[in-house]
Amino acid sequence: MQQRDLSGAILSGASPAAAEKYLAAVEAYHCFAGDAGGLLEAAIADSPAFTMAHVLKAYLHLVGSNAAAVAVGVEAATTALALPATDREQGHLAGLRKMLAGEYRAAGRIFEDLTIAHPKDALGLQVGQLMDFLTGDSRMLRDRIGRAAPQWDQGRPDYHAVLGMLAFGLEETGHYDRAEAAGRQAVALQPRNGWAQHAVAHVLEMQDRRADGVTWMRADIDAWTRESFFAVHNWWHLALFHLGLGEVDEVLKLYDGPIWGAKSDMSFDMVDASALLWRLSLRGMDLGNRWNELADVYEARAGTLGAYAFDDTHAMLAFVGAGRSDAARDLLAIQQAALKGAGDNASFAGEVGLPVMEGLVAFGAGDYGRAVERLRDVRNRSARFGGSHAQRDLLDLTLIEAATRNKDHDLRRALIAERAVALPAGEKAGALGRAA
Ligand SMILES: [Fe+2]
Repeated sequence: MQQRDLSGAILSGASPAAAEKYLAAVEAYHCFAGDAGGLLEAAIADSPAFTMAHVLKAYLHLVGSNAAAVAVGVEAATTALALPATDREQGHLAGLRKMLAGEYRAAGRIFEDLTIAHPKDALGLQVGQLMDFLTGDSRMLRDRIGRAAPQWDQGRPDYHAVLGMLAFGLEETGHYDRAEAAGRQAVALQPRNGWAQHAVAHVLEMQDRRADGVTWMRADIDAWTRESFFAVHNWWHLALFHLGLGEVDEVLKLYDGPIWGAKSDMSFDMVDASALLWRLSLRGMDLGNRWNELADVYEARAGTLGAYAFDDTHAMLAFVGAGRSDAARDLLAIQQAALKGAGDNASFAGEVGLPVMEGLVAFGAGDYGRAVERLRDVRNRSARFGGSHAQRDLLDLTLIEAATRNKDHDLRRALIAERAVALPAGEKAGALGRAA
């Protein structure tokens, strides 16, 4: 008998036992927590020609990881592409093929069509939203999910996943009240949904509700950290709340503990470590050897640079923070080469990454006038290289600090005034750090 997923779609090549493992792995993927990899290995061991098990294994490894994990993802994708597939599964395979080519926008479009045809395909929605995140498409983060939402049965056990995705999409398009409600509902349904936990954290970050943020994150730490492969990023959000409250000792404790204590070389984890140190350094803090330790890991994985300008920007923060001008210069050269490379990264680097990195290098060299120029050129289009508003806020904070150090008092005043309007409530001065 053919096995089916929660939407009723056929799972080609799956035995009943393998399908059960796969469904548990999908749930783990929705939550960003659990042994998704182990479950998929068991499913594949049982049913080697189980197409979607290989597809999910590829999704799990290809993005935000390290070179070894990407190799696993490529192998899984290659296996999947050779297996029989239904029309729906063909949609996943076509998107996967674009992901392998670094064509995230094209992949996102394919997943769009997939979930227009199959709106109940929660995995298709999730990997599509991941493409929106990588390409900085705020509107599609919301609309991809919104257009599928009417088709959803609220009684489905994975309804929390759609709510969590909807929450993040609403948040990134500024619908904070509805985002918070959807995110909180998702977490109430499934406390381990780290993406929904995170969506609410984003609302609280954007609304400058930092005390609320600490309360939200600390209410049930076990739920969003246990077996989570997204925990570092959520710890980073908690650290931002403490930073906004001026609780720098707590921030350093989180950095040295759950954020960087394990020295994960997964790119998404390193982004968080680097961004947090940079925010601290904008406050003029002595960070000891922390920049060097982080820069060492970035240098050790130099072969992976040049693939995604958003990640590379965070590598540049570490090189500038550690005062490694040779590594910084090499990374600028890598960006120049990326402009002529394949896939979307050529435009990520050209439109945003390279000018931002030039600005960061200028900042590190004390050329604050040039840093201001480069960052002003690019900040309003910075979404085009991916990430969230909260992550890209780093560019605004750096610009304010560069204007301050450049003694450009008028610009500084203007930037702080615009920020006060953009952030609707709360401890705005805390969010600005030293520039406040
Ligand atoms: Fe985030």
